[in-house]
Amino acid sequence: MHDFFGEIDPPQRLLMGPGPVNAHPRVLRAMSADLLGQFDPEMTGYMNEVMALYRPIFGTDNRWTFLVNGTARAGIEAALVSLVSPGDVVLVVNFGRFGLLLTEILGRIGARIETVEAPWGEVVPLDAIAAAIQRTAPRLVATIHGDTSTTMAQPLGGLGALCRDAGALLYVDATATIGGMELSVDAWGADIVTGGLQKCLGGSSGSAPITISDRAAEHIGRRRHVELGLRTDEFSDGDGLVIGSNYFDLGMIMDYWSEKRLNHHTEATTMLYGARECARIMLQEGLAARYARHSAAGRAMAAGLGALGLTLFGDERHRMTSVTAAFIPDEVDGETVRRRLREDFEIEIGTAFGPLAGKVWRFGAMGYNARKHKVLITLGALEAVLRAEGFACPPGEAVASALAAWDAV
Ligand SMILES: Cc1ncc(COP(=O)(O)O)c(C=O)c1O
Repeated sequence: MHDFFGEIDPPQRLLMGPGPVNAHPRVLRAMSADLLGQFDPEMTGYMNEVMALYRPIFGTDNRWTFLVNGTARAGIEAALVSLVSPGDVVLVVNFGRFGLLLTEILGRIGARIETVEAPWGEVVPLDAIAAAIQRTAPRLVATIHGDTSTTMAQPLGGLGALCRDAGALLYVDATATIGGMELSVDAWGADIVTGGLQKCLGGSSGSAPITISDRAAEHIGRRRHVELGLRTDEFSDGDGLVIGSNYFDLGMIMDYWSEKRLNHHTEATTMLYGARECARIMLQEGLAARYARHSAAGRAMAAGLGALGLTLFGDERHRMTSVTAAFIPDEVDGETVRRRLREDFEIEIGTAFGPLAGKVWRFGAMGYNARKHKVLITLGALEAVLRAEGFACPPGEAVASALAAWDAV
């Protein structure tokens, strides 16, 4: 094992799986800055700046756009526990592991869970969701945008309108797409959307960007509760059921991020610096250029894997641009290939979960790693390992096909 911290020549592992990926060096540098007190005007200034930086990234004008401390799952849990009360009907759009994670979290909240599903490798058609909304009359519809377990991206156009017509709120987990595929929160009509830093935003896990519509904020406001030790006559509680988590109570977190600065947790300063730098880099690059770079990387990866003679997994029309899965050929042992890539080339590719475990590898090109040379190096190394393991692939074609695909529009 490497000692990353003590070696003269530390390894530089290339993380080409479905995330986490290598953080942008600027993000790492930002995260090494000194700490600030949580009410220091400089710190609250950074908090306000982060709110503004993430609005265009989410494609929203939502006032309530900020960070939840914790990994992406913290954002998911905060959204669901704050929107859903025990006994509420929630419709989960389920097409992979992370749809099942929503179900798992909602079960603990005591929701009455309904699902509308697609097999792994497909997405759920909008008319099936519409029919399920009619059938179940949910308070909330919850879906994943890009499910890394299957590499599928669920189309979301029109879903918000369907939810609105039925009096339901819409939650979207965009952990794996934020920073890599366009998010159009306002156009989708989504009420809460959450993300994470460690994938297409090119940061470290540990902070979950979130955006909340006014409609959802009103709903959460009815469940508002001011912590006992902070109460003064100035503050009043809502008349709804108190949210069943203190840490993930979005009403309390909103009070903290508002000009009231009503204390809640101690904001994770280092993560705030990191999240801010991820967003600054993205906006400096430009949203369109950023999404085009991820599309080119996804196209190149898919073309290269195909040229190696591997069969890609899932419905091509709905494949995420940032992660691609390919079936492991019968001739090789999937884990041996992954180990050789790691040990001989310092490249990590992803394994798979549930029904896909042992059947596919997942190749990511996300954030700082959605770059031509990193895709080409990965494909070249994979070709060498596959050959060494006895899988006959045409020499040089993966890299050549990927190069051609990168530039194709
Ligand atoms: C779509 C999706 N949602 C949620 C998560 C959970 O993220 P975290 O591990 O940061 O909590 C992941 C992580 O892979 C993901 O891909």
